[in-house]
Amino acid sequence: MRFRFQPPIQLSSSGHHLLPLPTPPPFLSSSPSLSTCSISHHHRLMFSTFLLLGTTTPMTLEKTAVNLLSFWNCHSSSSRCTSSFGIAFDIDGVILRGQNPIGNSPAALKRLYHDYSGNLKIPFLFLTNGGGTPESRRAFEMSQLLGVKILPSQVVQGHSCFRSLLKRFKNDFIVATGKGEPELVMSEYGFRNVISLDDYASYFDNIDPVAQYKSWKVKQESNMLPFSMKSIQDVSLDRVKAAFIVSDPVDWGRDIQVLCDILSSRGLLGGEEEHQPPLFFAADDLQYQAAFPSERLGIGAFRIALESVFNRIHDMPLECTVFGKPNPFVFRNAEAILRHIWAFSCHGNAIRPEDEDSSSHSFTTLYMIGDNPLVDIKGALQAGHPWFSILTRTGVFRQTENHAEYPADVVVDTVAEAVDFILERESAP
Ligand code: G3P
Ligand code: MG
Repeated sequence: MRFRFQPPIQLSSSGHHLLPLPTPPPFLSSSPSLSTCSISHHHRLMFSTFLLLGTTTPMTLEKTAVNLLSFWNCHSSSSRCTSSFGIAFDIDGVILRGQNPIGNSPAALKRLYHDYSGNLKIPFLFLTNGGGTPESRRAFEMSQLLGVKILPSQVVQGHSCFRSLLKRFKNDFIVATGKGEPELVMSEYGFRNVISLDDYASYFDNIDPVAQYKSWKVKQESNMLPFSMKSIQDVSLDRVKAAFIVSDPVDWGRDIQVLCDILSSRGLLGGEEEHQPPLFFAADDLQYQAAFPSERLGIGAFRIALESVFNRIHDMPLECTVFGKPNPFVFRNAEAILRHIWAFSCHGNAIRPEDEDSSSHSFTTLYMIGDNPLVDIKGALQAGHPWFSILTRTGVFRQTENHAEYPADVVVDTVAEAVDFILERESAP
């Protein structure tokens, strides 16, 4: 499999205040976690993106600012944060296991807010490779589960980076797959012509030869979004311009079959075999911690399965672009978002683009609290200053000693201990 990188995009556009990020990618060519794939030098273009404020598109930063301000209400100096540090929390295996809070996470998070006002004291966000739900809904769910008010802008999911591809595929016919509502996720980012793989497959009789043996129904027709209700002609004659793996696929067999169909026929089922349409993965986790006691296969395992099958039946190796941690690009993006959270919570006003106030703010330390050495800790190590990694023992990692290949700066049992450590360290003279 070869990875393809997208070209830099314009970082600010009309009506949107979009902040540039440093140009990343040398890391990707030498990234061990990506070593199963060779890099196409023709396609090794620079990664770049805009601020991934987790809002529904096309919400502008100005609207987001109002959103932030109304929540934090940080106009009085007494409720301003003075923090020169910020925190990124992994979700699965650190904050939650399945739907259950772990490691005393609700109490740990409460410590990041002012007791008396409920306003944010320490800038933090969730940096997860999971997804399948729009950021706004995920923020609401997290607020319910954890008992603190989480804003959409504080939720960065694996697929949040797909926003950076909007310009390229805004009106193109694209397919999206994964648990949850991949089609809704993509449409909220602004992609106008997206169809879920579930719906796409339903237009082709017998495309899945074992469908009759599956006891589940993948989707109710009434749930289909209006724009995905196309005629069979529309779908069968419309070339798929790109495929997006938004979250962990549910029906691996069907998805591998249909993706092989799409990718081997230049996006037009039954078409001639030519160069494949672009394929994007929201993350590449081989395993992750879900509700089951031991790790579960993740989106990266699905990539390996798809790649193995595709490469056995085609001469040209599969090409794809992978987002998510551990790419340092994700950490730089998180840093930019945390600067905005810091700016809004500390200054209580929107930052004018010309001031570049938030972008000039530099954190002395940004803490990444994660459970997966190969994803969270490796990412923080690669991102370098100001990132500081804290590894918990509540998820993928369970060992007594530090991880040998990607040692964290600190190893603790739980996220509550991690927050203890941070607050003590930061309050020390
Ligand atoms: O599907 C979720 C998984 O890939 C990892 O989630 O929160 O541990 O980055 P997280
Ligand atoms: Mg995790």
